Amino acid sequence: MIHKTVLRGTDRNPAGNGAAGKKVVAGVKVAQEFSIDARTGVGAVHLGVTDGATAREFYTGPVGLTVLSDDGDEIVLGSGGKEVVVLHPGADRPVAQRTSGLYHLAIVLPSRRELARVIARLMRNRYPNSPTDHVMTKSDYLWDPDGNGIEIYAETPEDGVFGFADGQFVARDAQGRSRSGRDPIDLEALFGELQPGDRFDVPLPEEAHMGHVHLHIRDLQEAVDFYHGVIGFDVMGVADRWGAAFVSAGGYHHHLGLNTWAGQGAPQGPPTAAGLRRYTIEVADETALGAVTSRLHEAGIDVTEEPGAQVVRDPSGNRVHIQTRAAK
Ligand SMILES: [Fe+2]
Repeated sequence: MIHKTVLRGTDRNPAGNGAAGKKVVAGVKVAQEFSIDARTGVGAVHLGVTDGATAREFYTGPVGLTVLSDDGDEIVLGSGGKEVVVLHPGADRPVAQRTSGLYHLAIVLPSRRELARVIARLMRNRYPNSPTDHVMTKSDYLWDPDGNGIEIYAETPEDGVFGFADGQFVARDAQGRSRSGRDPIDLEALFGELQPGDRFDVPLPEEAHMGHVHLHIRDLQEAVDFYHGVIGFDVMGVADRWGAAFVSAGGYHHHLGLNTWAGQGAPQGPPTAAGLRRYTIEVADETALGAVTSRLHEAGIDVTEEPGAQVVRDPSGNRVHIQTRAAK
């Protein structure tokens, strides 16, 4: 895996030892004291939207989620009975640009065939989308009507890997050859995965779930200090020149993407604008939740207890619910 090469390479860099007990990866100090439970992942993402009916139509139509409940104030959308996206109508304007918050939420599908179904549906509806070949994943990108970013993807590690080297995003195919990692998907090949009788107008499969969340943050070091140093995600790669870091649990390529592309020091958006209301970090059990909560307390970070969840804000103001997988 490329990221491991990067970390080893940085270890040997004598100029990289910026602080006692920490090593530096691509200009960012990285502590190596503990890892969050390997079964940790991300869960439901809550979004503010301007118009509930418009957003509901988008997320159930082009995206293909299913309505689990809708009381007018909160529209709960999911797949296989689990929450994936929760909409909160009533925002007074679309997503504010150049602010911290959501870059995109990312729903992972179980196969290329399911991704082909989604992209075919979007193409047929002429909904703007950008199918992109990240080698290790095949991803499609689109925006909801308020400007919330969405990625829908399938894992394709048999095609190669992506990672970080020399402060940049890099990708290699299965033969080890360098790839851009940003080429358009070969749609003819992808649509070749479709089977006779596959329908484009049925919901996402029940296995669809939140695979990762990519956040705009105001400072890379600060975000890594929080998500890695306190929460305990492993750093899978840091690219200071690219302005991004990937962190995860259990060796996944990334459960969280963190980037400064909205600007170094990006402020929080107006609370009444559309955008990220909160996202969810799901841990396996109460023991794992207790361990994370203790680290947050020890770090002097404000933690609010809500039913079933420990609630914190990251240093950029992004609200996070940390909860066990079984809890709602
Ligand atoms: Fe992503």
